[in-house]
Amino acid sequence: MFITFEGIEGAGKTTVIQGIAKILEERGSSVLVTREPGGSTFGTSLRSLLLSCDSDLDELAELYLFLADRAQHVSKVLRPALDRGDIVLCDRYIDSTTAYQGYARGLDQDELHTLNTIASRGLKPDLTLVLDLPVEEGLARAAKRRSLLQSDAEARFDLEKLSFHQAVAAGFHAIAASEPQRVRLVDAARSKEEVVRACMAEIDQLAKRL
Ligand code: TYD
Repeated sequence: MFITFEGIEGAGKTTVIQGIAKILEERGSSVLVTREPGGSTFGTSLRSLLLSCDSDLDELAELYLFLADRAQHVSKVLRPALDRGDIVLCDRYIDSTTAYQGYARGLDQDELHTLNTIASRGLKPDLTLVLDLPVEEGLARAAKRRSLLQSDAEARFDLEKLSFHQAVAAGFHAIAASEPQRVRLVDAARSKEEVVRACMAEIDQLAKRL
């Protein structure tokens, strides 16, 4: 079972994924938690290139680095885990490319669709949970996290303008509207426990369908 988590900065994906992994492991499932960018050994270097604030990265160069990370991640990590029968929980995947490079950076959606399909070798999630909350709230959470960490080291996207993040959020809403079977919006402006419970309800429904 391949489940991806999406959302704007500060939506709380990381803590929610940990909560879900714990529940699934307690039920006896073998779970792999991974992320993009940076879910493979090689991808760790791509992640620091992509998220570092020092780089003056061209938007197409950015896209191809995300796609390189995805190709490596799919063949070396995701496919082997799914073949072993693991439940895979992945923090960001193809829909982030559609939302960030497409809706927010303005790259052509048809071309992105083709490139995403090539890079992922056609591997689509069984379920995508978009953690949804107002953009201002997400950005405030992300800023708080950066000040706690006392670091802007991975903040290249966090530091984009408000209109950029609004375009990302609109992108996720459009994706959810166009693929309602695969993509579910989950209200993330609640306690972590409530969000985990809502996500688990979607995962349990999926398990019944598969
Ligand atoms: P990450 O630290 O995972 O973000 P967050 O903590 O908000 O989950 O950083 C990943 C960043 O990369 C995030 O800002 C979104 C961006 N991104 C893209 O622009 N395109 C992509 O295809 C992916 C996977 C991520």
